[in-house]
Amino acid sequence: MIGDPMTTQPVVIRKIIWENDDTFTLTLDLDGIGGGYAFLPGQFNMVYVFGTGEAAVSISSDPARPGTLDHTIHRVGLVTSALAQKKRGDLIGIRGPFGSSWPIEVAKGKDVCIASGGIGLAPLRPVIYSMLKNRSAYGRIIVLYGGRSPLDLLYRVELERWANDFEVEVLVTVDRGDSSWKGHIGVVTSLFQYIKLDARETIAYVCGPEIMMKYTIDELERRGVPQEQMYVSMERNMKCAIGFCGHCQYGPTFICKEGPVYPVPRVRPLLDRKEL
Ligand SMILES: Cc1cc2nc3c(=O)[nH]c(=O)nc-3n(C[C@H](O)[C@H](O)[C@H](O)COP(=O)(O)OP(=O)(O)OC[C@H]3O[C@@H](n4cnc5c(N)ncnc54)[C@H](O)[C@@H]3O)c2cc1C
Ligand code: FES
Repeated sequence: MIGDPMTTQPVVIRKIIWENDDTFTLTLDLDGIGGGYAFLPGQFNMVYVFGTGEAAVSISSDPARPGTLDHTIHRVGLVTSALAQKKRGDLIGIRGPFGSSWPIEVAKGKDVCIASGGIGLAPLRPVIYSMLKNRSAYGRIIVLYGGRSPLDLLYRVELERWANDFEVEVLVTVDRGDSSWKGHIGVVTSLFQYIKLDARETIAYVCGPEIMMKYTIDELERRGVPQEQMYVSMERNMKCAIGFCGHCQYGPTFICKEGPVYPVPRVRPLLDRKEL
């Protein structure tokens, strides 16, 4: 944590990459922040646009890369649209990191199944970076990823590199193909038919829309993976990020304090409810 959790630290935008029409990755320069900055895979920052407001955004970069921080952001409303207008060299604010992290130590010596949909690959990217640094500590690493269309897919170059250079089993699907698309078509769970899991030896990390997480958990369970070996990352609107305002309440838990990453047994009953 950099200083007081309610104090926003100014940071400079070093680079902006547009991943697709409405999603972009900001690389932020942390050199101006005193006291250092460290985060764990799965944690998030409150990202502030001066004069507009704040939004919770997961950190999508390599935890071992000092001095910079990536945030991959889907433009939806006020703050994310204001962020989309920013240019290299502009100043924005961050406070954080906040929240729980993917427990990657429990996956050592095991197979790992990473299932994600849409922007949900962003908070899982730091997990993949961390595991690839120590590739031999893990068994199979399987990445299942789904997007709405080929143009919506994030990190396409990296997905290929993970598959080619690190023996990651990468399976990608889209809801709607186009003339250039030769890959799978269907929802993320449809990819399970192409893999065989050693259920007792598999740790699963799942992030995406809640409906996708619910059906992915069901599919993993059908294949014999115990819920205790599954983790999900939840999202809710946030204001304070430190357990004061109640905006992020999800059943009995505040996502900013206990989440966003939860062991599945903790949240599975809540995923069936429409509104909380
Ligand atoms: C722990 C956590 C991690 C997150 N990580 C990420 C991340 O890595 N990347 C990311 O992109 N987001 C992430 N989010 C979600 C992000 O915080 C919200 O999308 C963000 O708060 C939206 O802020 P906003 O001011 O742009 O939208 P707001 O103006 O607050 O709008 C919010 C809601 O209104 C809808 N909305 C607003 N404007 C429109 C419109 N014109 N048309 C249709 N719908 C609209 C949006 O769909 C959204 O549901 C995360 C959230 C949490 C809690
Ligand atoms: S965001 Fe305020 S309590 Fe969680």
